[in-house]
Amino acid sequence: MSLFLSKYLSMLETNSVSSEDTKISSYTLSPEDIAKLEKDQKLVSEFKQNKFEKDACKNWDLFYKRNTTKFFKDRHWTTREFKDLLNESDSHKTALEVGCGVGNFLFPLLQETSLFFYACDFSKRAVEFVKQNEYYDEKRCKVFECDITEDDLMAHIPSQSVDIVSLIFVLSSIHPDKMLKCLQNIKKVIKPGGCLLFRDYGLHDYAMLRFAPGHKLAENFYVRQDGTRAYYFSTEFIEHLLCDAGYDIHQLHYVKRETVNKKEGLCVPRIFVQGKFMVTTSS
Ligand SMILES: C[S@@+](CC[C@H](N)C(=O)[O-])C[C@H]1O[C@@H](n2cnc3c(N)ncnc32)[C@H](O)[C@@H]1O
Repeated sequence: MSLFLSKYLSMLETNSVSSEDTKISSYTLSPEDIAKLEKDQKLVSEFKQNKFEKDACKNWDLFYKRNTTKFFKDRHWTTREFKDLLNESDSHKTALEVGCGVGNFLFPLLQETSLFFYACDFSKRAVEFVKQNEYYDEKRCKVFECDITEDDLMAHIPSQSVDIVSLIFVLSSIHPDKMLKCLQNIKKVIKPGGCLLFRDYGLHDYAMLRFAPGHKLAENFYVRQDGTRAYYFSTEFIEHLLCDAGYDIHQLHYVKRETVNKKEGLCVPRIFVQGKFMVTTSS
């Protein structure tokens, strides 16, 4: 995938020009798409796969070194999509943004809501960018470094104390073997009655279909040129994973965005998976 296209697709996650939300089973593949997916069976070597896993944190840190705060645009769609974020009757509610990057999800919400936010990322540079942001206010938020697949969140956040956790375009960059542990780690800090808000890449998203041969790590799992990885989720996969981790599925559906860029002559069908998962028990 060219650098231009890769950057354009990432920006579209936040800035759909025209969009529609539709309940769909996933993207309907053209015969060409099917042929391309069937042909692309050769996996990246085990040696390289291990290196991408070992360097996951380093590769994201280099991403922020190259792009600083300029890659993703602020996410202004979040209160429209996740009404739980706007429950003003609960002014003392606590939230946690996992994999916060440079704060494109966090900072609009600090202004739009009265939530107290914890935020974490395993990239040291990303965490520093959050701290340097003019809207970073220690009375309203606390950001810290944490590898969500390795480090115990309870070293930073009291057990069962968070009302709302957001996991937005983060789980896709984690190796499928570590996704369960990551979700279990998050669950330990959510209050009974609290929820996890989720959005990430959907199966057969346009970006998935654009990977050239040589980028496939496993079924539905690919590596980009910069070494960061992307898993493309079906709702069935997410349902099983979240149930195994002990969450109740409250909402789970595909979100379809159809975006036209006349200047570049691109019509890009994006597919995301969005969900709200509840924690009902204290165990
Ligand atoms: C696409 S960005 C999303 C950033 C942010 N959630 C947003 O919506 O703008 C993915 C982020 O996940 C972080 N990340 C990936 N794996 C992680 C892990 N194991 N622990 C903590 N953060 C991780 C990356 O460093 C990166 O900042």
